[in-house]
Amino acid sequence: MELRILVLPGDGIGPEVTREAVRVLHHVAEKWTHSLYVRKGLLGGAAIRATGGPLPEATRELALASDATLLGAVGSPEYDDLPPSERPEKGLLGLRKALDVYANLRPVYCYESLIESSPLKNEIVRGTDILIVRELTGGLYFGQPRGIEGTGGGERAVNSMVYTRSEIERVCRMAFELARKRRGKLTSVDKANVLENSQLWRRIVTALAADFPDVELEHMLVDNCAMQLLLRPTDFDVVVTENLFGDILSDEGSVLAGSIGMLPSASVGNQLPNGAWRGLFEPVHGSAPDIAGQGKANPLAAIGSAAAMLNYSFGLTEEASAVESAISQVLLSGRVTADLKPPGAPASTEEVGSAVCEAIG
Ligand code: IPM
Ligand code: MG
Repeated sequence: MELRILVLPGDGIGPEVTREAVRVLHHVAEKWTHSLYVRKGLLGGAAIRATGGPLPEATRELALASDATLLGAVGSPEYDDLPPSERPEKGLLGLRKALDVYANLRPVYCYESLIESSPLKNEIVRGTDILIVRELTGGLYFGQPRGIEGTGGGERAVNSMVYTRSEIERVCRMAFELARKRRGKLTSVDKANVLENSQLWRRIVTALAADFPDVELEHMLVDNCAMQLLLRPTDFDVVVTENLFGDILSDEGSVLAGSIGMLPSASVGNQLPNGAWRGLFEPVHGSAPDIAGQGKANPLAAIGSAAAMLNYSFGLTEEASAVESAISQVLLSGRVTADLKPPGAPASTEEVGSAVCEAIG
């Protein structure tokens, strides 16, 4: 099979973790005799430095022409004082919108071998296996009007949480379908006791449930969900929620998994006529500028995102499972980075990448 992918290393630890993920992809391509064509592009702070903007037209075109895009991370402290419209993050948001990847699938899985890495009690996190489906192209991130206006005591800032019926329906339908293939339980998270936006969301999800009688649906307020995730994480199967709530809850989820360096993600939209998804695959973690360039970053979220790419964009389920089981083996072996608190000396980013390749065989 021919795999045409775009890699956007981005900022901070992005280049070092994507380097390992691409190495793993090359290894897989060789073993299963696929032809892997990798192109590289600029996004985020790296793009601002080179071209003046966070999402160059060339990057947008390359992404639209590729089967899938693998992203490292965006964000850099040197741009902290810029308005949102000029920041590195804006490049990522623009790319998500350009690719119309409206559903961000963020699995939160607690590996038995990492149980001690979570600060939570073993008996709470053991067995956690959640799929957060985060709406990715709507809500407060994109709603108009937005901006800061006025001066003095009257200076005011506005952001708008906007969702249309069809935006809610498509992501929730996908969540129901995913729940059907897992343990058949869907938790829809909102703030319907305060926000009209959430009231519409809840009404639409409730109506959709009629098409999925085999899925058990529950509604949960986001503040309560933030608490329940830490109290009884194993009660959750699929969680579907709007953009900002999903952003926040998925970082919280990393505490269940042991480290944010463990969480991969797949951003997908409508299926292409051949059944594949032209997805965007990105670790949940950020650019971590404090450890960038030191070989300390955990590449497993990026490698897990590459596995998700093999699965969703190319339908290569055997290859994807091989990468996932290699990750489990590496975790068991203890050749892991410092964030996972290994008993011995921590491995470097590159050593973990090599260990995954060796485990694939
Ligand atoms: C994420 C990140 C991004 C987001 C940032 C970098 C714009 O936090 O993917 O979770 O808020 O979506
Ligand atoms: Mg986030």
